[in-house]
Amino acid sequence: MNEMKFSDFQTKVLCIPEQYDIFLGGGRGGAKSYCMTLAALKHAEQYREKARILYIRQTYKGLSDFENLTREVFGSVYGQAARYNGSEHVWRFPNGAYMELGQLETPSDYQKYQGRSFTLLLVDEAGHYADPSLLDRLRSNLRGPKDMPIRQIMAANPGDPGHHWLAQRYVFKNAPWMPFDEEKSKRQWVYAPSTFLDNPFIDVEEYHSQLEASCPTDPELLRAWLEGDWAIARGAFFSSVIEEKRNAVDPWEEKPANSYRDRWEYFLAHDFGSSAPSVTFLVAKSPGIEGLDGKYYSKDSLVLIDEVATNEPGSLSKGMGYTVPVLAEEIRQMADRWKIRPEGVADDACFSNQGHGAGSIADEFRKTGVYFIPARKGDRRTGWEIMRRMLQDAGKPDKPGLYIARNCEYFWQTVPYLGRDPRKAEDVDTKGPDHAADACRYGCMFQKHTARTGNAW
Ligand SMILES: Nc1ncnc2c1ncn2[C@@H]1O[C@H](COP(=O)(O)OP(=O)(O)O)[C@@H](O)[C@H]1O
Ligand SMILES: [Mg+2]
Repeated sequence: MNEMKFSDFQTKVLCIPEQYDIFLGGGRGGAKSYCMTLAALKHAEQYREKARILYIRQTYKGLSDFENLTREVFGSVYGQAARYNGSEHVWRFPNGAYMELGQLETPSDYQKYQGRSFTLLLVDEAGHYADPSLLDRLRSNLRGPKDMPIRQIMAANPGDPGHHWLAQRYVFKNAPWMPFDEEKSKRQWVYAPSTFLDNPFIDVEEYHSQLEASCPTDPELLRAWLEGDWAIARGAFFSSVIEEKRNAVDPWEEKPANSYRDRWEYFLAHDFGSSAPSVTFLVAKSPGIEGLDGKYYSKDSLVLIDEVATNEPGSLSKGMGYTVPVLAEEIRQMADRWKIRPEGVADDACFSNQGHGAGSIADEFRKTGVYFIPARKGDRRTGWEIMRRMLQDAGKPDKPGLYIARNCEYFWQTVPYLGRDPRKAEDVDTKGPDHAADACRYGCMFQKHTARTGNAW
């Protein structure tokens, strides 16, 4: 066996007691992926045939880079005695340990892992996951025999689409190398940072200029890569204004007839989609009194109390492909539950003629008894500003705030994690699942409108 050398960072990581899960959250080239091969080796040597290791990347392309790395490392340790099956992506070690290199991008990819058990879960480039839901699901595969410890190690660079949730969960919790409680996994984690300066195996100067060349117009991102800095302003679009404690409210009870709370105004805010999800919120607008949850809301505050989101189960970005009548039926059912008339605002695009004789989407809705007027969304930037302001003002006694009930699941699964447009920092990245944010924005714009001119219908 060739002699292996570790960087100080890697030695330190390998010495972290096994009961802690690890977040390798450094800059590029900090030797994180290599460190994962070492952690796998250690686990395999320690637990032998009981060791079942799963390494995950989002894409096959990413996986093949790591495959090469494992060939190099495991080859130099075990020679021919460690066998790799390239079509199964599985390593079998001479000590009996099993290691699978897997790809996971969509909920249907997850079926490959459904019901299977692993004892060490390695997630590399976790920042490529814009939201944590798939990885959280994967974590349920982490289980072993009683006496067998289980562990997760995750690596990510700052500045990727998942920047925000990773930073929030793992970075701003405790000082580096100090354990902290993580709620979702109910485990203790350690944040282990490194940068390319901690990596003695690369030519530092050359690496520096390579990184510089890869992002010439983005000094913030470069800083994140060089310094492993998670405090950069590339976090999610709403990260500075959405706070669960301030903006989430408990689900409202259904509306009792003839209550004084009928002074609340109710309307729909709708973003149309068919191959993409369509999102409709039931919005309640406060006259400056208590809501159905008994909580006081300042005048003109908005509460999203219910939603119809037609995303495919398990996916945030695929729609169910519903036609307008099917969608309208769902929206009417929601309105019936709350005893309100199904009317409100929708995306301006719903009002343009589609040119196939059926009129506009809004016309089709009208035929089924669901009434929309255009949100007159104006420019997106103004809309986002109003929405951000209202999110920020939630809880203030004298300013209208924006609140979202916890049962509005699609909102909570998407809006807090939406990225910024890489070219326009003041806009949402429209590549992400932005449908709930759009519908909410129309509601906020409309609120602004009626606050000035009185009721619109
Ligand atoms: N212990 C080590 N021995 C030899 N080379 C290493 C070692 N650790 C890291 N390297 C090399 O340093 C480079 C960057 O490491 P990598 O793990 O890919 O960084 P990161 O995943 O943090 O971007 C790779 O080319 C890798 O082979
Ligand atoms: Mg890496």
